This record gives sequence, structure tokens and C-alpha cells, in this order.
Amino acid sequence: MTAEYKVQGDIALITLNNPPVNGLGLATRLGITTGLEQAQADPAVKAIVLTGAGKAFSGGADIKEFGTPKALAEPNLLSVILAVENCSKPVVAAIHSVAMGGGLELSLGCHYRIAAPGANIALPEVKLGLIPGAGGTQRLPRVLGVEAALNMIVSGEPVKSEMLAQLPGQKLFDKLASSPDTLLEEAFALAREVAAKHADGSPLPLVRHLPCKHKDGDAYFQFARNMVKGMAKNFPAPAKCVDAVEAATQQKFDQGMATEREMFINLMWTPECRALRHLFMAERAASKIPDVPEDTPQRKIEKVAVIGAGTMGGGISMNFLNAGIPVTILEMKQEALDRGVGVMRGNYEAQVKKGKLKQDKLDQRMGLLKTTVDYADIQDADLVIEAVFEDIGVKEAVFKKLDEVMKPGAILASNTSTLDLNKIAAFTKRPQDVVGLHFFSPANVMKLLEVVRGDKTGKDVMATVMAVAKKIKKTAVVSGVCDGFIGNRMIEQYGRQGGFLLDEGCTPAQVDRAIEKFGFAMGPFRMGDLAGNDIGWAIRKRRYQEKPDMKYSKTADLLCEKGRFGQKVGKGWYDYKPGKRDAIPNAEVEQMIVEHRQALGITPRKISDEEIVQRLVFSLVNEAAHILEEGIANKASDIDVVYIFGYGFPVHRGGPLKYADEVGLFNVMQAMKRFQKNPLDDAAFWQPAPLIQRLVAEGKNFNG
Ligand code: NAI
Repeated sequence: MTAEYKVQGDIALITLNNPPVNGLGLATRLGITTGLEQAQADPAVKAIVLTGAGKAFSGGADIKEFGTPKALAEPNLLSVILAVENCSKPVVAAIHSVAMGGGLELSLGCHYRIAAPGANIALPEVKLGLIPGAGGTQRLPRVLGVEAALNMIVSGEPVKSEMLAQLPGQKLFDKLASSPDTLLEEAFALAREVAAKHADGSPLPLVRHLPCKHKDGDAYFQFARNMVKGMAKNFPAPAKCVDAVEAATQQKFDQGMATEREMFINLMWTPECRALRHLFMAERAASKIPDVPEDTPQRKIEKVAVIGAGTMGGGISMNFLNAGIPVTILEMKQEALDRGVGVMRGNYEAQVKKGKLKQDKLDQRMGLLKTTVDYADIQDADLVIEAVFEDIGVKEAVFKKLDEVMKPGAILASNTSTLDLNKIAAFTKRPQDVVGLHFFSPANVMKLLEVVRGDKTGKDVMATVMAVAKKIKKTAVVSGVCDGFIGNRMIEQYGRQGGFLLDEGCTPAQVDRAIEKFGFAMGPFRMGDLAGNDIGWAIRKRRYQEKPDMKYSKTADLLCEKGRFGQKVGKGWYDYKPGKRDAIPNAEVEQMIVEHRQALGITPRKISDEEIVQRLVFSLVNEAAHILEEGIANKASDIDVVYIFGYGFPVHRGGPLKYADEVGLFNVMQAMKRFQKNPLDDAAFWQPAPLIQRLVAEGKNFNG
């Protein structure tokens, strides 16, 4: 059992002990109910204190049990909370560190609550597409008031215990302990006090008996509904949070609980909830590498060097400075350093101006930064990240130099986005120390980090960089070596489809609108304008040499020949007013597309939004299937993480492969076969990947 029971004098202490956060798995739930029974059967026990061992009171449901029968097995959490409420002796929750989700709901079933200052209190279920399902929506408003409770439930964000304790009229905590160290002692004192108080058999207080009203009733909930609609357009759960809390104000407690239950179960079956739960697990799974066990020894990373102070070098450095890790940037010339450091300082200053960063933090971070033009100044760095020009000759010179100067055991990383990492590793005599760290632009903002594992990259290097990624708050996904790695290799196919769609009859605005309605932050053409159309042009020019048989639309090349490189020059697929990012359709571009179509002898056809979305998204899916099959990605969920965190794929769809699973792989394959028959598309590309064919034949999904 993962809850301990012991008696100290006249108080029984039940301690949840299910590391890391005392998740309320079956064994823990059983531990609580068994402890309650023991305490009630023991005449020496006058009251019970319920607390958590280690780093939490309780973090809520046990994620290891997600989706398994154990999650619902009796006693389920509702039954445990009922057992606490019905306990004949007072139960005091002693809350510290973390009380979230089911953990907070459990404490709300207790007769009394005492919290240590600094504890994070939250009902985060909305982040998984759910509402709290064990009474949270009915009990929290009764102790905090409707507005404070609804804010917590709709946002899912943690609030510190001492903040909540200050809310006027709050009944969440009967007492705030003076410090985490004295929590247990003070909880025992409270338990003795309330045991004496109820020695006369007076009823124990229950949250369910408290009133729940809002003075402006309907008007308030209408306001809340409007707020939530604007914030969460693709997710049903936040609106249900409002409904459930409203039910708490209108229905009797038991009826409100039934309403909450019904909403909870209905939400569980929505694709949005499945997508969020998938991503929650996928993000955690991404840090695990099948053949690199968790106890693999790691190297110490205390000093970092970055080569190149350009767009990427600056952003990469900021990540480490933000995490308190000193960085030395090396450039060829002092001017380049000054420019790069100026940009970084400017970024921090903008954050200070917006009130997102304090001035002393800026000073502290910039204080950790050193610059140099001399390799001797970086030779003792533990990790060096190269972010120089994307040219194999330049990379060769840099890595040969690094091999010469860096101390033994230093990790040598490249931020290359297209070059062969194995080749880069071979420039050194220590390929086991070389790894790719592919950051995304802007590198100080984007969460995704592709960790590129070369054929010879050491396991300890992999373990180390995955841990470093966590430290600098990146979501790291491992990719094998191939052109474009996971993300860019897939986006190339998506871009190609965008081109064919123009040739066949679409305007850029129509394509962008369709995929943005699907949920992408930005369609391919607005995205091209933002990133710079010249980047894709350079890649295509290379492809025309490498893969002369590969079919491409030439429209994007024609656009580039007109110098329409995108936002940076004020014109691309769209026009841009100075300082503005609004994309304004341009008649000349549309005429250019029409003329190109005519030159190719194509009669334009009307293409539905559905076809646009399917061709764009399924092109990602087919390429992803090849990537999985080749072992470039370790698992399907890694690819979903790449697309959600690096490419603006709609979160409520759960990533391209989760989306394909939801559509049904049979249907996806049928669509691919239809696209194969389109003479203007690329029939060879649309041959469904063997993995998809196999999964369909076996009745399986990408994500199990
Ligand atoms: P950039 O042109 O902005 O910066 C490159 C910097 O490296 C320049 O400041 C240059 O002076 C410096 N440099 C060149 N050779 C050097 C040498 N031998 N020693 C020291 N410094 C040297 O380029 P950017 O965009 O920052 O790209 C850098 C790397 O990051 C490239 O490999 C690129 O493919 C990769 N990358 C770029 C992304 C982007 O969106 N810009 C995204 C992901 C990766």
C-alpha cells in the first residue's frame, strides 16, 4: 500500500506515499480507506491527520493509471472522499507543496484543512480537456466564493496557499501554518483542538453543507461564459467549467455532483480531451529514449559556449542565461559580437518594458554573458553549441578547431538545420561527443528542440542533452540524421502541396484560410512570408539538382524572382504595410498565378476547404510514416510533439498522427489513393507509406 498509517498518542496519521507526487492510484486510495477504518476502530484515536510524504500533499490522479481499469476501480476517488466525509472522527488535511486536482478534491472532503505557506493549489483538469470530476466544481466555490473558484477552475493555474488564505471569507483553510517545517506539529494541535470540540458528538463540518451563491447570479455567469468563449474557442471544457460551477449555485449538492459527473464523462469522450491527454503523455514520453536508460550517467554542464552571435546564436544563449548558466559567445569579429549582444539586450529590455522581466533580472542575466573572438576563452566550456553559417565548409573549419581546443569530455553540438550531422561529427576525432541541437527561431521563445542523434553520439551525451533541455525549459524530441530531420522534412511535403493547390485553382488566401480554420496558427503562405520565401527557394534550388525527378510547383520561384521574399521586404505572397503584420492579398501575385496556370495549360477548378486541409495534413502524415519506419523518430507521439511545439499544429487536434488516428487510418489511406489519381499532383508521393498500409491491415493506429 502506498499510504502509511501510524498512531501518535491520540492522533492517527495517514501519510500518502506514492512518489513522485503521491498520485491517487488504486493502492494509495486503498491505503486511505484502510487507514480511516483502522482509526475509527481504535478507541485511543480521537482524530486523524491526512498528509503527503516528500514533495507533495497530492498531485491528483496517478498518471501511470491513465486509461487503465485501475483508474476507475473501487474505491474510486469519489468513494474515498465520501469515506473521509463519513468518518466518525475528525479528519484534518495537512497540505503542503502541491495539492492539485484530485489531491485538492480529497482535501475538500476533509472536515478541516491546514496548509503550509508556499503550497501550490490548483484544479488543472481543464488543461487535459476536462473539468474536475471528484467534486471540485461543487466544493471549491463553497469555500472560496464563486468567482475565485471559477477563475482557478477555468485557468487550471496554481495559486499559492498564502494568497488563498488571504481571500476575505474563505473557508478553504481553517489555518495557515507558520512554516512548512511546523505544518505537522500544527496539524496535530488542530486535530486535538477539534477532537475536543466535537467530543460532545456535535456534527463534523462538511464543505457540502456550505451555501453556494453569487450575488449577481445569471449576469455573472453570462459574463463568465462570454469571457471563456473568447479565450478557448477550440475547446469545450472551459465553458463546461462555467456550467458546472453555475450548477453548484443552482442545484442541491448531490444533484450538482451528478451534473459534474455527467459533464466530466461527456468531456472524456471528446476528441479535444483525447488530444490533450495524448499530448500530456506524449510530452513526457518524448524525453525517454528506448536504449538510453534513465540511470545513464550524465556529464556536468556548468559552462556553455556558443559559436556565432547571429539570429540563432543570440536566442540560444538567452535560454542558458535565463536558466542561470554562464555563456561565452565566440564570433569572428568584435562588430558581430557587439551587434549580437545588442540584439539580446534589446530583447530583454523589451521584456522589462512590458513588465515581464525585472530590471535586476536583466542585469543578472547579462552579467552571466561573456564574449570573445579567441577560442582559448571557451576551451573549458562543458557544452559548445555551433550556430554559424549553414555551410559545410564553415562548419568543418569550426569543428576542426573545436576538436583541437575543447577540453576532453566537452559536448560539441551543432544547430545545423539541414546538414549531415554524421559528416560534421567526422570532422572531429571525437564523434561520440558530437550531437545536433536544432533550435527553432526565435530560439529564446520556441519550446521545441530537436536533438539530433548521430550514428556515433554517446548515450551519456544523449542523456545529458535531454536533461539540459529540461533545464532550459525546452521540449526535446530525438531525431535521427536525415535531411530536414523530423520537422522540416515533413514541412517540405506540406509546402509542396501548397504549391500544387495554387497551380490547380486556389489563391494563397484561400489555402491559408482553410488551414487556419482547421486550427493552424498560420497557413503556409503567411508562414512563408514570415520566415522568408528565399529560404524555401534556396532549398528547392538544391533539390532540383539532387532530385531532378521530384515534382514541384514553380509558382514560389516566380514569386521570388520578383523579389517578393516576404514580410522583411514588405511583400511576398501578400503585401504588408510598414510595421504591420496584416497580410493583404495582392492582385499582381494572383495574376502571376493565373498566368502560370495558363502557361501550363491547366484549367482551374474549385477546390473545397476539405480537400485543402486533407492534402496539407495528410502530406505531413505520409512523410511522418516514412520517418517512423526509417527509425528517424522513435515513436509516433514524438512527431506529434514536434508539430505542436514547433510548427503551430492545432493543439486541439493533438498533432498530425493523433489527428490521423482520429480520422481513422483507413480513411486517411483512401484519401491518399484519391490524391494519387490527380494528374497535377505527385502520384509517387501519395503512395501510402508501407507503415500506414500495415497499420490499416492490422486494424491499428499510429498511437497504439
Ligand atoms: P546568421 O547568419 O544570423 O548568424 C550566423 C553568425 O555566425 C553570424 O553572426 C556570423 O558572423 C557567425 N559566424 C560565421 N562563421 C563563423 C565562424 N567561423 N566563427 C564564428 N562565428 C561565425 O545565421 P542563423 O540564422 O543564426 O543560423 C545559424 C545556424 O542555425 C545555421 O546552421 C542555420 O541553419 C541554423 N538554424 C537557423 C534557423 C533560423 O530560423 N534562422 C533555425 C534553425 C537552425
